[in-house]
Amino acid sequence: MTDKLTPVLTKRWLSPNSWTLHTYEQLEGYTALPKALRAEPEQLVQLVKDSGLRGRGGAGFPAGVKWGFMPPNEDKPHYLVINADEGEPGTCKDIPLMMADPHSLIEGCVIASYAMRAHHCFIYVRGEVPHCIRRLNAAVREAYQAGYLGTNILGSGFDLDIVVHAGAGAYICGEETALLDSLEGRRGQPRLKPPFPAAAGLYGQPTTVNNVETIASVPYIVNGGSDWFRGMGTEKSPGPKIFSISGHVEKPGQYEAPLGTTLRELLELAGGMKDGIPLKFWTPGGSSTPLFTAEHLDVPLDFEGAAEAGSMLGTTALQIFNETVSVPWAVMKWTQFYEHESCGKCTPCREGTYWLAQILERMVDGRGTEEDIDTLLDVCDNVLGRSFCALGDGAVSPITSGIKYFKDEFLALCEQNRARNSEPALAGAGS
Ligand SMILES: Cc1cc2nc3c(=O)[nH]c(=O)nc-3n(C[C@H](O)[C@H](O)[C@H](O)COP(=O)(O)O)c2cc1C
Ligand code: SF4
Repeated sequence: MTDKLTPVLTKRWLSPNSWTLHTYEQLEGYTALPKALRAEPEQLVQLVKDSGLRGRGGAGFPAGVKWGFMPPNEDKPHYLVINADEGEPGTCKDIPLMMADPHSLIEGCVIASYAMRAHHCFIYVRGEVPHCIRRLNAAVREAYQAGYLGTNILGSGFDLDIVVHAGAGAYICGEETALLDSLEGRRGQPRLKPPFPAAAGLYGQPTTVNNVETIASVPYIVNGGSDWFRGMGTEKSPGPKIFSISGHVEKPGQYEAPLGTTLRELLELAGGMKDGIPLKFWTPGGSSTPLFTAEHLDVPLDFEGAAEAGSMLGTTALQIFNETVSVPWAVMKWTQFYEHESCGKCTPCREGTYWLAQILERMVDGRGTEEDIDTLLDVCDNVLGRSFCALGDGAVSPITSGIKYFKDEFLALCEQNRARNSEPALAGAGS
């Protein structure tokens, strides 16, 4: 058995009543906060830069660098917004984290807000998880009562309010600028960048948007230091990471391991392939990241390793499919999701996802032709890099990578169609 597990963010998850303030305090909770409040905000920004912590929401942007973009003065309100929308297919790490250990996120929010001189923090949670929203609200109430939130936190003179906001369950509202529009009460659609949120974000004021896992990592960095954090993972992708493993494995779930761990090692932790049926394809970071195959079992799952092998680390949502699954069918299902979730703001994505879904449905239904494969690739080419936001790029990932590795399956569907069309008509037979 591999010894790859590094429970840091997940270390309290199996403790009794892990979500309560009492358990959190018993297990080193809120011990980083007083240290952070004694430091200067700039020192905390530097600490996070030194740790090399990269955003856990998908793009992997260095968190300390992002914090450093916030203006150093306080002549305008500053905001911290936590992206807890978690809509990427296969991704299920932020909601478990908020369910099992909400105070680690709240402690991270206070430290990050102090570092960025923000006195208001919003946690934007997808509306379909009322149990999680209730738990977060209960934890926020506990934190206020204990003096970890509100005015003059722990006698430091620093004030912070946290508001838990329920979204309405649109995938696009996970895109940070669409999220800000939604938070302001508008229809969630991406904004033109620049200006970036640090210059003009929520209500036009300096704002940082960070993922749940990113901010929940911060108290551990304050307590452990940047060298400790860098002791896990790889040079350019340091730290532990929660890998969400779903699909055809014996023990699906959350596995926290250093960045750079391979699927082969993670599969071992997850009990191997279900019923021993071999692996066929998988996503390294949700359906917006190009597919991998059984040939990629030893790719180091960090930002660089995944990219060098032709995909992306994304949200480390490993969806595992065995040999019983048809690739064109899976690709069709994902494409239907993107068609449904396209916000309609830009033509390449709005029209492209519609046409891609139509063609794939036709193919899977056994009515496709070889030309359809070329048309699919042509439409993908017109969506990739030409859409207003990254949803469009993500939508074509399963299609182009599916055809790259499994073109024979798409061709086989077309061949079935050709064979059926060339069968002699039965109508009138025998007359
Ligand atoms: C269509 C789309 C959906 C996204 N959904 C999420 C999400 O659910 N959660 C998240 O943290 N980031 C999501 N992102 C990425 C955010 O735009 C942003 O990069 C992230 O919240 C920044 O946080 P980080 O720097 O801590 O990773 C999404 C991006 C796109 C294009
Ligand atoms: S790429 Fe899609 S989701 Fe993004 S703005 Fe365009 S239509 Fe909306």
